[in-house]
Amino acid sequence: MIPDGGRPPPPCRRPGRSEFLWRLRPAGRPKNRNLEGRARGFRSEAEADERATGGGHVSGQVVRSAQRVDSRALRDAFASFATGVTVVTVGGPAAHGMTANSFASVSLSPPLLLVCVHSKAQMHGLLASGTAFGISVLAEHQRDLAAYFSNPGRPTGMAQFRCTATVPGSHTGVPLIAGALAHFECEVRNRYEAGDHTIVVGHVCSLYRSGGSPLLFVSGRYGHTGTH
Ligand SMILES: Cc1cc2nc3c(=O)[nH]c(=O)nc-3n(C[C@H](O)[C@H](O)[C@H](O)COP(=O)(O)O)c2cc1C
Repeated sequence: MIPDGGRPPPPCRRPGRSEFLWRLRPAGRPKNRNLEGRARGFRSEAEADERATGGGHVSGQVVRSAQRVDSRALRDAFASFATGVTVVTVGGPAAHGMTANSFASVSLSPPLLLVCVHSKAQMHGLLASGTAFGISVLAEHQRDLAAYFSNPGRPTGMAQFRCTATVPGSHTGVPLIAGALAHFECEVRNRYEAGDHTIVVGHVCSLYRSGGSPLLFVSGRYGHTGTH
């Protein structure tokens, strides 16, 4: 990691998979659902799911009823969509960063983007009251930062940025992660409550882009394209 101001940085420890995979596994469910299904007398996870949801099979895949979607299956299906990884940041006295892969481009004219933030995330309250935020698109070598900014045990305030260099946004001063592939500095344009997340739409007021390969995230694992 890039040290900040010559001070020895606290270790940007890479959490084990289990530290972030909690998001992908509902509490109280065993890791191996095949075992769970078999314990309940079903031949397979698919059969257990079919009985539970009233779904049917198509080419070995369980088709689930729209009325009762299994949350584990939903997370896994969502996770099969490969994304990049960003760190959303806000500045000021309650400066904060949070790893997010729900980032999406929305509009070229006007320039708009979105990110979805869980209602229980600290970032949620900060974006509800704040007017500006930044998005840093992580490069393939910044996997440790993705893990760090998703770790609930990280320090609060500006202290959490000690383990990486940041640059202040030219319009709003939001901290942006140095070495990222792209920076977007945004003013909050709209917020839409959507289930357990809020969709935050930002108006891009400045941007920066460098070359390089992006960090990817799919099926709960980090990866990279290996090209570029
Ligand atoms: C790869 C990855 C992507 C994530 N994407 C999101 C996201 O889009 N929205 C979200 O609310 N949380 C997301 N998270 C989880 C948050 O980063 C994590 O819960 C974080 O600790 C919340 O920080 P806060 O509560 O301190 O704001 C993601 C985690 C990982 C590892």
